Amino acid sequence: MKEKLLETAKSVLLKNWTGTFTKPAPNLYPHQWNWDAGFIALGYAHFDWPKAKQELRSLFKGQWSNGMLPQIVFGKEKDAHYFPGPDFWKAHEAYAHPKNAVTSGISMPPVHGFILWRIFQIASKNDLKDSRAFLEEMFPKVKKLHEYFYQYRDPKNEGLVYIRHPWEGGTDNSPIWDTVLRGINPAELEIPSYKRQDLQNPEAAKHRPTDLDYDRYVYLVDLFRRHQYDDDAIYKECPFLIQDPLFNATLVWSNECLIKIGQEIGAEVAEIIHWNELSIYSFNEKLWDEDRGIYNAYDLRNEQLIPVFTNSGLMPLIGEVPTQEQAEEILLKLESPHFGGKDDQYFLCPTYSLQSENIDFQKYWRGPIWINMNWLLYQGLLRYDMEDMAAKVKADTLQLIEEYGFYEYFDPRKSSTNNLACGTNQFSWTAALCIDLLMEA
Ligand code: SER
Repeated sequence: MKEKLLETAKSVLLKNWTGTFTKPAPNLYPHQWNWDAGFIALGYAHFDWPKAKQELRSLFKGQWSNGMLPQIVFGKEKDAHYFPGPDFWKAHEAYAHPKNAVTSGISMPPVHGFILWRIFQIASKNDLKDSRAFLEEMFPKVKKLHEYFYQYRDPKNEGLVYIRHPWEGGTDNSPIWDTVLRGINPAELEIPSYKRQDLQNPEAAKHRPTDLDYDRYVYLVDLFRRHQYDDDAIYKECPFLIQDPLFNATLVWSNECLIKIGQEIGAEVAEIIHWNELSIYSFNEKLWDEDRGIYNAYDLRNEQLIPVFTNSGLMPLIGEVPTQEQAEEILLKLESPHFGGKDDQYFLCPTYSLQSENIDFQKYWRGPIWINMNWLLYQGLLRYDMEDMAAKVKADTLQLIEEYGFYEYFDPRKSSTNNLACGTNQFSWTAALCIDLLMEA
């Protein structure tokens, strides 16, 4: 059973391999995406080390001179249908855009530090010299990315960085963004004309974000390009400036792993230690919700917390941000009817509280289970020795993949008569993280 699943997972990655990078999904996402590439590299590390390295090298070819690592590095395929493409982003007008790559103009959750450390653990068993050389090559690039976030996205110097677009958070139509996005009213604004391509994908179309969501996404991109991606100018005008717990949790865990990498290769890490201490401190001071036992997001534009129950609020576990006591509160939340961890009717872990009135079990980031979030949650639970819950997350994840295939996301309801597979099939990070779960030592 395990062998067959493993072989199929590998074949998904290899089918999506373009020769220089791996498409996140054959039709829907035909270019290289930032955090996808990180998870994909981890999958390859278990069976094809050269491709793991190439995946990250290709992504970092798109890194901007100010350190920003773009959400998309566009591939060369002429007939790749995706909106917004390079002509819409106009990111090449930015002073920092690289000369030899074509990219979008926002970033994504910085998973690369912890991915790098983890792939080193895997690859060093076979080739210590080469895997250490790869750490030496990548360390300064990942550090520069973190430097970018702390320099340009942390205006109050509190160690919590903001995102300025839902796509940057990676969780496009998460309910976390709702209140802020409601303040962007397309009927009163000039929205450039555009044509969605994602709805051409028949299996994914019904689960995708709405046209109103897209108008708002496009409005924000237009604002960025008007300012030619100048961070200070965007900060002054952008209505969407959010400190997201998922995004900052990936940054913290990656900081921690960069510190380990620095120690492994003999590089200076004092600055990273300082960043990380400040981030963890502020996470707990500002985003921890004592009453609800979960981390909130914070709307920096309107200076208010965003108390919405999503599983992003559980993710600081990955960076050991919570104390043991706080982590136990988080575990209680996971077991509670919010996430259904003790209820045999649901697979873990829905992205949005099961008790939310407007949960949509099949709509993108508004309820369904995503495999990368489950993988992160699993790692976070292990850090606190919460082995039973970790084992349940892992078992549910593998069961969904085995029964339904390598889909993009899954409906959590066991009792549903619907097909639980949602979005597009042959999804690369579902395959890559399945490989990691099956192969972990
Ligand atoms: N997920 C976004 C999309 O749907 C981009 O990152 O295009």
